[in-house]
Amino acid sequence: MRPYVIINAAMSADGKISTPLRKQTKISGAEDFARMEKLRAESDAILVGIGTVRSDNPSLRLKNEALKEERREKNLPAEPARIVIDSRAEFPDDSDMFIKGSGKIIVAVSEAADKDRVAALSERVTVVVAGKTSVDLGLLLDKLGEMGIRQLMVEGGTSILWSFMSQRLFDEIRIYIGALIIGGKTSPTFADGEGFTKPEEFPRLTLKSAERFDDGILLIWQKREENSL
Ligand SMILES: NC(=O)c1ccc[n+]([C@@H]2O[C@H](COP(=O)([O-])OP(=O)(O)OC[C@H]3O[C@@H](n4cnc5c(N)ncnc54)[C@H](OP(=O)(O)O)[C@@H]3O)[C@@H](O)[C@H]2O)c1
Repeated sequence: MRPYVIINAAMSADGKISTPLRKQTKISGAEDFARMEKLRAESDAILVGIGTVRSDNPSLRLKNEALKEERREKNLPAEPARIVIDSRAEFPDDSDMFIKGSGKIIVAVSEAADKDRVAALSERVTVVVAGKTSVDLGLLLDKLGEMGIRQLMVEGGTSILWSFMSQRLFDEIRIYIGALIIGGKTSPTFADGEGFTKPEEFPRLTLKSAERFDDGILLIWQKREENSL
């Protein structure tokens, strides 16, 4: 069974998830960070793309000790697994994930990845092959399900978010809208990619809740199965 997929990201009031420099940008505050940590703790795995690893070098760790303890009490690893989508097996040796956090590292590569690189990577992380030239996300979800991952939190970046959303490979979207404007036509948005041109192609959502955190708002949407308005 495929995992339940929750997309979680933070954007500015004008829909940007970073600046034109594409570096990690603080969009939410302490309350939203605590909410995000709780969601990480409830998930079996957290997923990002290799672009985010290159630009932000995230550790994707769980910092809150009480949340780690709660997971241990449930006989779970203290921290959720960390998954990186990386077709060409270019996951950097000096990633912060090797230094900070204890969650298992899973790198999803394609069949086109250099064999020597895959072999070297396999010595340090779990490698999953899914897709011919880029990572086939549907196939990857099947494989993650087989590995026992029931809830997957997808954090970004923009290309990965677009792929999950455009292929309708998600169940929920949790988007935090922060009280700031970033601007810039090259700043990544919540969903870049090619975009849809026909209204019948737009994935449709149902709004489940809207809640204030810090100076912004958290919107929780559920995917609608049919696309009708
Ligand atoms: N505000 C937030 O919540 C938030 C969270 C995370 C990231 N971000 C921002 O997002 C930006 C990074 O976005 P990004 O688009 O450069 O990187 P990304 O979405 O993290 O990764 C994209 C890369 O993933 C690989 N990939 C493999 N299979 C794919 C597939 N099926 N669909 C899509 N991508 C696939 C491709 O590289 P290969 O072909 O080499 O495999 C692609 O270039 C940064 O500015 C970061 O700060 C913001």
